[in-house]
Amino acid sequence: MIFIDACLGKKTPYTPVWMMRQAGRYLPEYMRVRAEAGDFLSLCKDYEKASEVTLQPVDILGVDAAILFSDILVVPMEMGMELKFVKGEGPVFPKPIATMEDLDRLSSDKAVKNLSYVYDTIKLTRDKLAKDKALIGFCGAPWTIATYMIEGGSTKTYNICKKMVYDNPQFLHAILRKVTNALKLYLAEQIKSGVNAVQIFDSWAGALEKSAYMEFGFSYINEIVDYLKANFPDTPIIVFPKGISGFLDDISGNFDVFGVDWSTPLANAKKSLGAKYILQGNMEPTRLYNKDAIDEGVDEILSIMGGKRHIFNLGHGILPDIPVEHAKYFIKSVQEKSAKYAK
Ligand code: CP3
Repeated sequence: MIFIDACLGKKTPYTPVWMMRQAGRYLPEYMRVRAEAGDFLSLCKDYEKASEVTLQPVDILGVDAAILFSDILVVPMEMGMELKFVKGEGPVFPKPIATMEDLDRLSSDKAVKNLSYVYDTIKLTRDKLAKDKALIGFCGAPWTIATYMIEGGSTKTYNICKKMVYDNPQFLHAILRKVTNALKLYLAEQIKSGVNAVQIFDSWAGALEKSAYMEFGFSYINEIVDYLKANFPDTPIIVFPKGISGFLDDISGNFDVFGVDWSTPLANAKKSLGAKYILQGNMEPTRLYNKDAIDEGVDEILSIMGGKRHIFNLGHGILPDIPVEHAKYFIKSVQEKSAKYAK
């Protein structure tokens, strides 16, 4: 698998490429299966349909890896929190975690058991997926998941959970501890079910100042990484903490790949982390609106990385109104142009 070889720093015939959120609303084929399932969460729970949409971007775009179709928020949902996806608003937890009693009602063990539909999706998908294509499993980082559990949904200010950082850090640690316990076992089950690599998404890492992020964010990611490396030393781990370009020099841990977000100049990330980690990323996702912008973005990133120690991706998820034809053009141009660097 070219994707796994690249994660491990081996030479590959071209730079492997996939896109965060590659299974989703920009694909008419996805919209059809989601309509059949009824809604987004029913789609996540139906392992046959979830597997079908996991495979769509491989068939339609020719990406080098499939990413499991699910969501980071099924974990707190299966711990016992009611979750709704409200049109135009995104995810909503109608009863956010505010007290120790709220937290005590949630169970990490129950979540790991209840998530069996995810393990079934993985088994079926790994069965159907071409042998040379990787299947990526994932979870949200404890901090990013906790922001939704505490705020009750998406937020611009993070004021409830950031107040907790300074007013009630013990309680925030208790929430993060419980989520981390679930995530360690959840990713272990994903690996046992057949994923070839895992990615930890910390989409809201950039909401915290450095010292707070190290304490409430990255330390929990590293705990998950160390647990997985002790039990599954051969499975590559990708971390994606978005919005921390100001302190990349201080990032360390036992993971294999560092995902660079689009706002971080890739040359800076290479200087800080490129010797220690394979870098993944980081084309600005809105470049996909325009073919000239795609060409320019791909050329620039390939010239910085020189076809080495790199996995191509967007610097955040693909947007729902991107033309499929542009997504195809992007994938093909990375695969073709990067092959020239490999010679
Ligand atoms: O990447 C993939 O194709 C795999 C599937 C995947 C989804 N969500 C499917 C999804 C993955 C890896 C995620 C991760 C995720 N979910 C993150 C971290 C990555 C990131 O984008 O920062 C976060 C923060 C979430 C939480 C979440 N889920 C939000 C905020 C939303 C609503 C936003 C929106 O785009 O409407 C979702 C819903 C969601 N997750 C959709 C998909 C395809 C859209 C649901 C739909 O309407 O069909």
